Amino acid sequence: MSNPFKPTAGMTPPVLVGRSADIEDFSYALDDGVGAPGRLMYVTGARGVGKTVMLNALGDIARKRGWLVIDETAETGFLARLIDFLQSDGKSHISSVTMPSGSLSIPGAPVDASLSLGSIQFNPVEHSLDFRKSMSQKLDKLEKKHLGILITLDEVQASNIAEIRALATAVQHLIREQRNVAFIFAGLPTMVEDVINDNVLTFLRRAERKHLGDVSLTEVKQAFATTIERNNKTASDDVLDMLAQATNGYPFMIQLVGYWTWRASETSDTSNVSEITAEAAARGIAQAKIKLGDMVHGPAVDKLSAMSRDYLLAMAQDDGPSSTNEIAKRLERDAIYANVYRTQLIKEDIIYQSAYGYVDFKLPYLRDYLREHGAYHQMRKTIDGLQ
Ligand SMILES: Nc1ncnc2c1ncn2[C@@H]1O[C@H](COP(=O)(O)OP(=O)(O)OP(=O)(O)O)[C@@H](O)[C@H]1O
Ligand SMILES: [Mg+2]
Repeated sequence: MSNPFKPTAGMTPPVLVGRSADIEDFSYALDDGVGAPGRLMYVTGARGVGKTVMLNALGDIARKRGWLVIDETAETGFLARLIDFLQSDGKSHISSVTMPSGSLSIPGAPVDASLSLGSIQFNPVEHSLDFRKSMSQKLDKLEKKHLGILITLDEVQASNIAEIRALATAVQHLIREQRNVAFIFAGLPTMVEDVINDNVLTFLRRAERKHLGDVSLTEVKQAFATTIERNNKTASDDVLDMLAQATNGYPFMIQLVGYWTWRASETSDTSNVSEITAEAAARGIAQAKIKLGDMVHGPAVDKLSAMSRDYLLAMAQDDGPSSTNEIAKRLERDAIYANVYRTQLIKEDIIYQSAYGYVDFKLPYLRDYLREHGAYHQMRKTIDGLQ
């Protein structure tokens, strides 16, 4: 029996937990017609909270209505890829990897979009116009059938701001022209913030914001029950509680806990592999925590500045919420200085203000991870400091 859980970035989970309201909002925006606010949206949240999966789910909603949906990642050259896709009659989605460097074969194409792929020749104005024109042509056909185009752009970050500007400017025009379009972009909170705070793209500030967070444990438990049962295993209510609690409502952890527990149940000594025992759950949870550290905590902590890391390490000394004054003392800094890093970490969804003057970890098990790896990070800081 194959493992139903999917602890892989961007993979649609067996049950999408706790997101039905967001999906309904978007369905409403599509049905509400041109100009509905929910048609211009951005999705943010911590790593592994389910942004990509959400884009997929929203894309499916539009697809079900017969819309043309184009999913792109904001990597260099994405605008050229979008133009190519629109002009190639939407038959195939040419990815950045297989994209031929000289696809001049499109008759009537005003500019060969691919020529400037990733090169300094990128001309935002030309690209923006090309994109708008290709969209308009496609929309002329689709709108006759009361259909539209949804573009989803994942992994948005300010490093590609020129291209994002070109795309967003075109989208703004299309919206103004009352075309049947929707545009959703997603990225980590600070990355997206840089983009919406761009002076050129002020209209994006009016986009509807979905800040994804933890999901309810009741729903997590229900999702475990459904997935386990549908895949012909059983688990007692206590075991289901155990699994749900171990996730802390963090979506990526739902898949990790599910996956490793399922696996543990297949390799357990008991003859009955169709039952997920408490013992299998305990082993699965332990393994899931290790994987979470490798896949989420490690990369997240590595990306931070040395001072932000120190801030987290100072927090990890507490068993529960940390006093911000106390943290500043431990860092031997004044409160204003420490506050800069506190604000940064809150923006990144790594910590949150649990009460006035107190902060706590938002990513589950980060405290344990830091305690185990604290020495390593401290060492790295010392090495960095020596350079
Ligand atoms: N609502 C959910 N219910 C259950 N599992 C989910 C949910 N959302 C996401 N997941 C699972 O969590 C994992 C991470 O999801 P996803 O890749 O969409 O996160 P992300 O926010 O895009 O992360 P990143 O910032 O790294 O791009 C996947 O394994 C996915 O199946
Ligand atoms: Mg993602």
